[in-house]
Amino acid sequence: MNDPLVILGIAGSLRKESYNRALLRAAQELTPEGARIEPLELDGIPLFNQDEEANPHPKVAEMKQRIRAADAILFVTPEYNYSIPGVLKNAIDCASRPYGDSAWDGKPVAIMGASVGAIGTARAQYHLRQTFVFLNMHPVNQPEVMVGSAQKRFDQEGKLTDETTKKLVQQLLAGLVSWTKRLANDAG
Ligand SMILES: Cc1cc2nc3c(=O)[nH]c(=O)nc-3n(C[C@H](O)[C@H](O)[C@H](O)COP(=O)(O)O)c2cc1C
Repeated sequence: MNDPLVILGIAGSLRKESYNRALLRAAQELTPEGARIEPLELDGIPLFNQDEEANPHPKVAEMKQRIRAADAILFVTPEYNYSIPGVLKNAIDCASRPYGDSAWDGKPVAIMGASVGAIGTARAQYHLRQTFVFLNMHPVNQPEVMVGSAQKRFDQEGKLTDETTKKLVQQLLAGLVSWTKRLANDAG
C-alpha cells in the first residue's frame, strides 16, 4: 500500500465546466489525512477495438499502469440516458482487456455522481455497480453520494457549496480508506 494511500479519481465527463469534475475537485479537498486523490483525465482514450487490445494505445497502457499503481478507485459519474456515459464505459472496457489482464481486478472502489436531475445519477450508479461484479472490484456500499439538482450545489466557479453533500463526500472517502486498509490486511 502507498503511504499516503493513493485513490485514483476518474470523472466520467470531458466537459470543461462538468459538475462531476467539480465534485472530484471537491473530493480532493475532503480526503482524510493519510490519503490523497490523484485525478485521471479520460481525454484522448481511443474507442475500444478488440482487434487492437493486445497492442494498446499509449494512453490505455498509461491508464492501466496508473490504475494498478493506485490503492483504490473513485468513480465520479454523470448519468446519460439513465446509464453510464460512453466515455466512462469505454475507459472501463479498455482497461479491462485483454482477458486475464484487467487492471481493475481486486481494486477497492467508491462511486459518487452529480446530475441536474432530481435523483442524482442513481440509475447510472447501479449500472456501474453491476460492472464491478465481472470486474471483481470491491465497492463501498454506503453512503450513496447522489448529487441531484447539481446546478444548486456548486457556485459559478464550480466550487461545491452544499454542506450536506460535503459531509457525505467526506464520509464516503473515509469509508473507502478504511475499506481499502481492511482488504489489504486480509490479503496480507
Ligand atoms: C446525452 C445526455 C444524456 C443525459 N441523460 C440524463 C439522465 O438520464 N439523467 C439525468 O439526471 N441527467 C441527464 N443528463 C443531464 C446531465 O445530468 C447534465 O448534462 C450533467 O451536467 C452532466 O454531467 P457533467 O456536468 O459532469 O458533464 C443528460 C445529459 C446528456 C448530455
